[in-house]
Amino acid sequence: MNISLRTLTPKDPEAVLHQAALLLVEGFRDMAPEFCPDLPSAREELAEGLKAERICRGAFDGGGLLLGWVGGIPQYEGRTFELHPIVVRREFWGQGVGSLLVKDLEEQAAQRGGCVVFLGTDDEMDKTSLSRVDLFHNTWEHIKRIKNYRRHPYEFYQKQGYAIVGVLPDANGPGKPDIFMAKRIRPEPVKGDEKP
Ligand SMILES: CC(C)(COP(=O)(O)OP(=O)(O)OC[C@H]1O[C@@H](n2cnc3c(N)ncnc32)[C@H](O)[C@@H]1OP(=O)(O)O)[C@@H](O)C(=O)NCCC(=O)NCCS
Repeated sequence: MNISLRTLTPKDPEAVLHQAALLLVEGFRDMAPEFCPDLPSAREELAEGLKAERICRGAFDGGGLLLGWVGGIPQYEGRTFELHPIVVRREFWGQGVGSLLVKDLEEQAAQRGGCVVFLGTDDEMDKTSLSRVDLFHNTWEHIKRIKNYRRHPYEFYQKQGYAIVGVLPDANGPGKPDIFMAKRIRPEPVKGDEKP
């Protein structure tokens, strides 16, 4: 498939902006139903993502169809970027579009001086073994033994080189955590890392 990536802006044609918002509504329906439940909320989310200080990149096929998009929010004085959101058109899942978008976001973040990309990926729908448990106790034991019951995207991010670096227990209500993941995008040896 011939895929091209480019920055999305508020000046993009209405048809493109509409597609970008619709992808959020459809993509998150069974993942995080309270995030962009309808087009107006998705347009608001998109408008935030299109702000100049943020990264917003779209993947298009040869015919100009928007296949997916990814956002990046500068944090920690721009040294770290938060990946939020990412969505791929459902019919194109599993064809490498999401991976391309993550890689592209990392390149964009590195160009702006970022060292790390991080993200929070909620488990609101009992998709992993981290749901319905008390993550305030034995936190790292639970993380080490994580199982993916129903295609939670944490595994997608692991395949892009992201590590689970923590959780926020009960972030979305009792037993519904947020899972934090991060990746170093500028490989530099960490001094003292060799210590036991
Ligand atoms: C998550 C999402 C962006 C992945 O996009 P995609 O284009 O399907 O991803 P890719 O085709 O690049 O997948 C790369 C690898 O990750 C795997 N993968 C993708 N989604 C996965 C999931 N939900 N669970 C487990 N593995 C997954 C693929 O099977 C593939 O594995 P392989 O390299 O061994 O073949 C897409 O499914 C989506 O838009 N989901 C809805 C929105 C969403 O959940 N966003 C993330 C919120 S934190």
